[in-house]
Amino acid sequence: MRKTAVLDTVRPPIEAPTTEPTSPDGRTEQWRRTGAAPLSGVIDDAGWDALVREAVSCEPAAADRINDCPGLMAYRDGSITSPQRCRAHRGGSALRALAIGPALLEAARAVTGQCTLVPARYGFKYYRPGDFMAVHRDSVKCAGITVSFALTENLGPMGWLPQLRDASNDAVLAHIGAEPFPSDGEEFPLTDGMFHGFDGYNIPHWRPPHAGDGVAILGTVCFFAL
Ligand SMILES: [Fe+2]
Repeated sequence: MRKTAVLDTVRPPIEAPTTEPTSPDGRTEQWRRTGAAPLSGVIDDAGWDALVREAVSCEPAAADRINDCPGLMAYRDGSITSPQRCRAHRGGSALRALAIGPALLEAARAVTGQCTLVPARYGFKYYRPGDFMAVHRDSVKCAGITVSFALTENLGPMGWLPQLRDASNDAVLAHIGAEPFPSDGEEFPLTDGMFHGFDGYNIPHWRPPHAGDGVAILGTVCFFAL
């Protein structure tokens, strides 16, 4: 979807169909209540190791992902973009297989209760010391669920504002003001070796400046609800 610079004042609600099944372990309820839930049973240890090796191997070819325009920009698709500095790579066969294969898709559908999800974007992000992504709302490509996972142990927690999940973009902008990393946010740790689903299209979130040594690697797969 082409972005425009027209400010959005009304965000259509993304509601899970009420006639679809709820996951037996309660994760759908957790998702609806909190805007986040872990995805399990997606990959075995060998598959995870392959994903980590691929992420590391792609790092030399990663491209700069720099937005140094000050402030926040709200778009018609409901997203909000903000300054960021990191590097990105779309990954290789391991990430592609994860993103378009049935295991992650079925886990995402089970958690959200939405049987219309399809994979829409995926990639690796590389954070050198000091790299960051300021507060934002994800693209509409992630309107189903954003799945994030830490591929290195030095990736710090994400920050987020789950209480603004249902807020309009105007309300989000008014709440955040000029803070790139809102001080009233909560930490969202990405436990190593796990896939974390969250409502990144609706919940403002950010990645503070990487304070650790070396490069931290984040993986992301987004699903859109048709
Ligand atoms: Fe995001």
